[in-house]
This record gives sequence, C-alpha cells and structure tokens, in this order.
Amino acid sequence: MDEVPGGLRPPTNPADAAGMFARLTPEQAGAVAAAMAQNNAASNHWAVGLLGVAPGDRVLEVGSGPGMGIELLAERAEGGVVVGIDLSPAMVDLARARIADLASRGRAQVHVAAAERLPFADGSFAKALAVHVAQFWPAPEPALTEVRRVLADGGTLVLATRAHRADPDAPMAARLGWTPAQVEAMADRMRAAGFRSVGTTVARVGEEELVALIGTR
Ligand SMILES: C[S@@+](CC[C@H](N)C(=O)[O-])C[C@H]1O[C@@H](n2cnc3c(N)ncnc32)[C@H](O)[C@@H]1O
Repeated sequence: MDEVPGGLRPPTNPADAAGMFARLTPEQAGAVAAAMAQNNAASNHWAVGLLGVAPGDRVLEVGSGPGMGIELLAERAEGGVVVGIDLSPAMVDLARARIADLASRGRAQVHVAAAERLPFADGSFAKALAVHVAQFWPAPEPALTEVRRVLADGGTLVLATRAHRADPDAPMAARLGWTPAQVEAMADRMRAAGFRSVGTTVARVGEEELVALIGTR
C-alpha cells in the first residue's frame, strides 16, 4: 500500500483512520492537508454543487479537514454562515488559518468536535455536508442521528466520497472508496436514522469515479 503523507502508516481498516486523524501532529496535518488540497478539490466542488446551498443558509460541514469545503460553501451561502467541525485539532488549526477572513466577517467558523456528538442545538442548519469522511465512521448510526438532529425540517445531507477501486495500483484514496454494497448499506442506515428520499448519485469527474448519498430530514 502507498504511504499516507506525513510518513504515517496507512490504516488497514478505514475505520481505524478516525483515530489516526485525531492524533495528527501539526507537521503530519500539514502534509496530509497539502495532499488533500491537490487530491480533493474536484470532489469537493462536485459535492458542494449537489447540496443546493442557497444565500442565507446555515451550513454544517462534518470532517472539514483543512477547510477547503468551508470556503466553497461560504461562496454559495452568501449572507449565511458555514460551520465546520473536525475531530483533529491540528486540522482545525489549519482550517482556522485558511478561513480567517471569512471568520472575521462572521461568515464561517470551525470547531474541534466529533460527528457523533455535535455541539449544536436541534434544527440549527439548513444543509450538511461530509466529503471523504463517512467511510471513517466505525459505526455510522450515531453520526447520522446527530447530523439529522442538528438539521432543520426539510434540511439536506450530502455524504460524498470516491467509488471503490480494487485495483492494487489505484491511489489509496480510491481503494478506501465505497463499493456499491457499501453505498446501499449507508443508504439503509440513513433511512434508519430517519432521513427521507435517500438517493444515490454517481459521476466521473476528471479521472475519478465519485459517489454521493443525498437525504432529507
Ligand atoms: C480524508 S479527510 C477529508 C477532509 C475534507 N472533507 C476533504 O474532502 O478534503 C477526513 C476528515 O474527516 C475527519 N473525521 C473523520 N471522522 C470524523 C468524525 N467522526 N467526526 C469528525 N471528524 C471526523 C478527519 O479528522 C479528517 O480531517
């Protein structure tokens, strides 16, 4: 398996990666963030487009990493607020630096928090996004229940990542992507958590096969 940037050992089980992210040192986070900036730009643009953000929306990004998605969401949520959360303090520091200007204008903020325990009141957000994050949830139910709780009635959740590629020469990010069976299982979990109208969208963006699940509170 190829290396995770920053000299980290790649997780053999995707669910182990959440712990790895939480323990990133600032140096490791910087190296991982540089790779994400290069590798995740196209998929973040695609996923943000699916969310249908409108001016004035309050938007939550779960697993905001170094903050690229927060910036893209804020461009669309003109007059609204984008709130990122991530369980990695080092990633949150990077995102905070990246969104400093938006934060100074009250347009964006980012906090250390886990998807499974969101520090927000019920119904706080119109939209929620998680890109390349849900595959790292060892048990998705608590996170899905929490995200649904903080969405307002009629609010939208988009979970997006890459489609799985079994080819051993494929980039690690693609090997960590979802198989069709995993997409279906996550759709079932979204329905079990109370999301309505759960649907799947796939797209080829550049060299990548991307997949997203969209559900309504
Ligand atoms: C592969 S990165 C993706 C970052 C960003 N969304 C992007 O597309 O570039 C996954 C991020 O999700 C965060 N993460 C994973 N599990 C999480 C959880 N349960 N709660 C909050 N953040 C989580 C990690 O710390 C990491 O920053």
